[in-house]
Amino acid sequence: MRLQGKRALFVGGATGIGRACAEDFARNGANVAIADINVDGAKELAIELQQHDVKASGIHCDVLQESSITQAVKQAESDMGGIDTVLIFAAMMRTGNVVDFDAELWDTLFATNVRGTFLTAKHTVPALRRAGGGSIITTASLAGLRGAPGMAAYASTKGAVIAFTTTLALELAPDNIRVNSVLPGWIDTPFNNPAIDHMGGAASQAQLVEQIVPLGRQGTPPEVSPMYVFLASDESRYITAKSMMVDGGMAH
Ligand SMILES: NC(=O)c1ccc[n+]([C@@H]2O[C@H](COP(=O)([O-])OP(=O)(O)OC[C@H]3O[C@@H](n4cnc5c(N)ncnc54)[C@H](O)[C@@H]3O)[C@@H](O)[C@H]2O)c1
Repeated sequence: MRLQGKRALFVGGATGIGRACAEDFARNGANVAIADINVDGAKELAIELQQHDVKASGIHCDVLQESSITQAVKQAESDMGGIDTVLIFAAMMRTGNVVDFDAELWDTLFATNVRGTFLTAKHTVPALRRAGGGSIITTASLAGLRGAPGMAAYASTKGAVIAFTTTLALELAPDNIRVNSVLPGWIDTPFNNPAIDHMGGAASQAQLVEQIVPLGRQGTPPEVSPMYVFLASDESRYITAKSMMVDGGMAH
């Protein structure tokens, strides 16, 4: 019960890594609000998590719409009686070589992954201040440090998330609000399908993973969630402005 009594807002937590984190948070005693464009998935997950004797709600949120974020934050604060932890997962991936990449699609990726992260932080900070402090955890990617062929748009958004996270951490340290980013490596979710298609299919991906991941395989969402639990818990109270890699040793 490392998160007993915490009140965590998940933005983009209906599936994948966010879903595994919400399950881990509830098991550890945190109240959770899951805000996602996939509102049915968020609500279904919330019902499942109530078995842990915590408050859990599913809320509609589209991070492309600022008003949708402000409404979701208001709802989450009311559902949980406050917010002291914010986790941001909402993102999209599209691949394509730079010379072929559509400029509008580039803008959409930035609007979802970077502007969405910025607006979520912007509209949750007042609630965290009201709570007397807390923890914001963004989700970047190892791609944001290293890039990869066909990943210019996605990697650029995640590089921006890393820079944003560091800056926000410096601004909010006096408010006792810590801000860190998790950088997953290859984690087995359908989110990566555009990248797998770009590299020629699952067999090529499996070969690449074997070559570049020292542990020799992809990770799973439950293998990433403990890092979020740690960054939300009081055990990490002296850790801020950090990029935490969960990547099977890929960056070394
Ligand atoms: N899977 C990986 O290998 C990997 C690696 C590095 C980083 N990441 C990052 O981890 C995070 C979660 O990815 P995942 O693999 O769990 O994929 P996922 O697709 O399961 O999770 C993304 C979630 O964001 C939600 N979402 C998408 N657009 C939204 C919007 N406009 N408004 C609100 N919610 C929206 C989706 O409904 C979904 O619940 C993402 O930020 C991704 O960039 C994933």
